[in-house]
Amino acid sequence: MPTGEAVRAMFDAIAPRYDFLNHLLSAGIDRRWRRVAVNLAQCKPGDRVLDICSGTGDLAITFARAGARVTGSDFVNSMVVRAEAKRRTIPQGAAIRFLVADSLQLPFRDGTFDVVSVGFGIRNVENLDAGLREMRRVCKPAGRVVILEFTTPPARIVRGVFGFYFHHILPRVGNTLAGVRTDAYTYLPHSVDTFPAAPELAKRMECAGLVNIQYRYLAGGVAAVHVGFCK
Ligand SMILES: C[S@@+](CC[C@H](N)C(=O)[O-])C[C@H]1O[C@@H](n2cnc3c(N)ncnc32)[C@H](O)[C@@H]1O
Repeated sequence: MPTGEAVRAMFDAIAPRYDFLNHLLSAGIDRRWRRVAVNLAQCKPGDRVLDICSGTGDLAITFARAGARVTGSDFVNSMVVRAEAKRRTIPQGAAIRFLVADSLQLPFRDGTFDVVSVGFGIRNVENLDAGLREMRRVCKPAGRVVILEFTTPPARIVRGVFGFYFHHILPRVGNTLAGVRTDAYTYLPHSVDTFPAAPELAKRMECAGLVNIQYRYLAGGVAAVHVGFCK
């Protein structure tokens, strides 16, 4: 696992091309996955949502479109600047604010949010268990912690086909088109390989103090949405 500083430098370097590559390399399917995550969060209009590791803000914006009041936080300023620029262009922009914060030390009181979410971010947090505990800490009792993340497909055939794309095609295209010298798109499949598979992530969420954890595989198990409730 790279240090927080290394993760910060990597995302700072790829920030200008992050959205373009995200949508290109996922063929746009990431937008649908974000909508599924928001639906599974059982968000009601007016709910307070914190989206950590919010990057350029796409999951935060999807929550705002569902009627939530959203705070997005990320520790890379250049990502937050891009999220803020996007926020200003959408009708729900007034319901969102973005700020720079480390997900391991969130600047919020215990029990502040109805939903605490993270999209493709918790895998990059230096200490997964501490990150999950911090998400739970700022979540209200009966609130939901929602994690959208790549995972290891349970079916061998999907693992094989997707694994070829993920390990051989995506790194070449991503590192080439990123516009800077980077191995961020080599790190991506490696970080998924070393991240806990969906059943194990559910256990880690439970260890962090969450209950009634459920998860749903997306696209044959390439990604998953986990939802856990705060006591
Ligand atoms: C792959 S991007 C995901 C961005 C966004 N959530 C999305 O769905 O596109 C991961 C983000 O996590 C952020 N990140 C990683 N570790 C973090 C930490 N400890 N605190 C805050 N942000 C962090 C990075 O800066 C980066 O913007």
